[in-house]
Amino acid sequence: MRPTQAAFPTTRFRRTRASTALRDLTQENRLSVKDLIWPVFIRDGMNVDEPIGSMPGVSRLSVDRVVAAAERAAGLGIPAICLFPYTDPALKTETCEEAWNPDNLANRAIRAIKAEVPEIAVMTDVALDPYNANGHDGLVRDGVILNDESVEALVKMALAQAESGADILGPSDMMDGRIGAIRQALEAADHRNVTILSYAAKYASAFYGPFRDAVGASGALKGDKKTYQMNPGNSDEALRLIERDLREGADMVMVKPGMPYLDICRRVKDTFGVPTYAYQVSGEYSMLRGAALNGWVDGEKVMMESLLAFKRAGCDGILTYFAPEAALLLASGA
Ligand code: PBG
Repeated sequence: MRPTQAAFPTTRFRRTRASTALRDLTQENRLSVKDLIWPVFIRDGMNVDEPIGSMPGVSRLSVDRVVAAAERAAGLGIPAICLFPYTDPALKTETCEEAWNPDNLANRAIRAIKAEVPEIAVMTDVALDPYNANGHDGLVRDGVILNDESVEALVKMALAQAESGADILGPSDMMDGRIGAIRQALEAADHRNVTILSYAAKYASAFYGPFRDAVGASGALKGDKKTYQMNPGNSDEALRLIERDLREGADMVMVKPGMPYLDICRRVKDTFGVPTYAYQVSGEYSMLRGAALNGWVDGEKVMMESLLAFKRAGCDGILTYFAPEAALLLASGA
C-alpha cells in the first residue's frame, strides 16, 4: 500500500506545505459543524442564565433559555444538543425516583425543545447521579453500587426520556447489561427509532470535576466511581466493552474523556468501524479555557486544534462545550 518515498531532494515534504492552497488540498482530516454535539446544563426557573464558576463561559440555563440556545445552535448547523440537569437537592433521594418522573426538568426541556426546534436532535444522559442523594450513577445499598437494580431504574428513566421525545439516549452509568435492557424496553414500547449512543468506554477520570459542580453532584458524591467506570490504565478492556454494547444494541459508541484517550478512539474506529464519538469533558474544556483566559495559549487556536485531533483519531463526532464557538469560527471559514 505505502509507496516507497524517493530520497531527498526528489522528495521534499515542504512542497505540499508551501502555500495555503497546497496545505488545504493535502489536508487529510477536517472538522465540520456537523461533527458537533453540544452539551448544555439546565436548571429550574424562567429566564435564568447562571454562570458555572469552574467552567468560564458555560452557564446553567432555564428551560426557556435552553430552547433559545437550541434554536441558535440549529441555526449554526449543530446537529445535536445534549441535556444535563442541575437537580434541586430537595428532589434527590436514595431511590432516585425523580429520574423517571415524566415531568422532571430534563423531560420538560426535551419536550420544549422538540416543540420549538424539532430539527435539532436531543440527546439525554441516562444515569442516576443528578437524582441520587449520594451522587452515584447507580443505586447504593450499604456502600455498594448495585448493578441489576440500577439497570431496572435506568430502563424506567430511558423510557421516560423516549416518551418525552428524546432522539438519542446516552447511557453514561457504566452498569453492566444496561444497553440490552434499554434496547429491549424501547422495542417493546415501539420506540424503534430512538438511538442509543453508549458511553461504552468511560473512564474513572478526574477530568469530570467541573461537570460535577455544574450538575450539583460534587457535594453529594461519597467516594469515587472506580467500581463501575474504567481504569485509566486499560485499553483492551475498552474494546471488549464497545463490542459488548454493540451486541446489546448500541447504535453509536463513545470514548470519554477525549484528549487523554485519543489512542482508544483510534483503536475503536479501526477495530469496529462503527459511529464513534468522543466527549471532550468539562475538565478538558476548563483547562483550555483557563489557560486562554490567563493569556497562556491562544484560545481559538487550541480549541480548533483540539477538535481536529478528534477527527484525526477516527471520531465521527465530538461532544464539546465549545460547540457554538467552534461553529461560529467554522462558519467564518476558519
Ligand atoms: C454522569 C456523567 C458525568 C459526565 C457526563 N455524565 C460525570 C461522571 O461520570 O461523574 C461528565 C461530563 C463532563 O465532565 O463534561 N453520569
